[in-house]
Amino acid sequence: MTDTLQARIADALHTAFGHAPDLWVQAPGRVNLIGEHTDYNDGFVLPCAIDYRTVIAVKGRDDRLIRVVAADYGHTIDTFDLDAPITPHPTLQWANYVRGTVKMLLEHLVPLGLGLRGADLAIAGNVPQGAGLSSSASLEVAVGQAFKALCGLDAVSQTDLALIAQRAENRFVGVNCGIMDQLISARAEAGHALLIDCRSLGGQAVHLPEAVAVMIVHSRVKRGLVGSEYNTRRSQCEAAARHYGVAALRDVDGERLLRDRGDLDDVVFRRARHIVTENARTTAAAAALAAGDLVRLGELMAASHVSMRDDFEITHPAVDRLVEIAQAAVGQDGGARMTGGGFGGCVVVVLPDARIGEVRAAIEAAYRSPEGEPPAIWVSHAATGAGALR
Ligand code: GLA
Repeated sequence: MTDTLQARIADALHTAFGHAPDLWVQAPGRVNLIGEHTDYNDGFVLPCAIDYRTVIAVKGRDDRLIRVVAADYGHTIDTFDLDAPITPHPTLQWANYVRGTVKMLLEHLVPLGLGLRGADLAIAGNVPQGAGLSSSASLEVAVGQAFKALCGLDAVSQTDLALIAQRAENRFVGVNCGIMDQLISARAEAGHALLIDCRSLGGQAVHLPEAVAVMIVHSRVKRGLVGSEYNTRRSQCEAAARHYGVAALRDVDGERLLRDRGDLDDVVFRRARHIVTENARTTAAAAALAAGDLVRLGELMAASHVSMRDDFEITHPAVDRLVEIAQAAVGQDGGARMTGGGFGGCVVVVLPDARIGEVRAAIEAAYRSPEGEPPAIWVSHAATGAGALR
């Protein structure tokens, strides 16, 4: 699949700008195995990168212009100048992920006495869009990676790239996301999930047992409320942290949650309970995965889904049904839960390779979206993070 993607991009670069690339980079999308909405609470997440990515062909220029052609968006072209203020594009939304990342990268480089050079870029990807698989984070990280490679920016670590990409999303695109998506895209290791401590940004690679796959099932429920509800959840978590007198809910454990509950509003209490219990489940799930204990992993994933449904209230009845179908199909061999920001989107299923065909068929037979559509299903193994395209 990457071969045709690459051919399409090489063609776009040639048609738009008339040359062949100097180099290629890629950055993957991600799926989160467990640890939902914990990242902006300084907590733990356990995502892995997927075999779907944004790919960029790069050709350096001798001046200060950046020209970008988007092969997935009608070959539209954005041009901007590194020496002029970088402002949002009036009409091309895709261009703002590029502009935002370049702007934040420049701001990061100034104190280091470093800069960027002009370039022509052609971009395309195969991360499903609007499914909650972080196609935008993969675009941002890929853009950062492109300039890191072109300008030899060894001083910019993969963690720096992730923070720069997150800043682009927060301050330029205007989405108040946490660090998980960009960090896993920048730092994933093939065959591994990454247990990320979202306070220290330390990561521990957790090997997925041999012959275990990650199936991603799209409920076809559009993630409509995701923006406003995401921000509401964030403020509720912050309110809970203030109540407990801590910097972030990461600092509250199960015992303190109950002991110091006081007169905390019931909704805010349940939001906090999701975060506190989800952090514990996530570290336990990393241990279970490392031990190859898929039964335990499945229990933790099931408990995570119930907590998202009842306490954090970010699922959807159709997604709940899809999770039940997936859990029944996979049985004791793995687990299933909703993944990502919520209010629709995808379910992640961890399962042995040997059961992929049968589980896929069971889910396809049993699930229809509220509009009567069948699910969309992608199967992936834990992929490598951003870097040169190999
Ligand atoms: C979105 C955000 C992430 C994270 C998840 C929920 O994907 O971009 O930072 O908060 O939702 O776990």
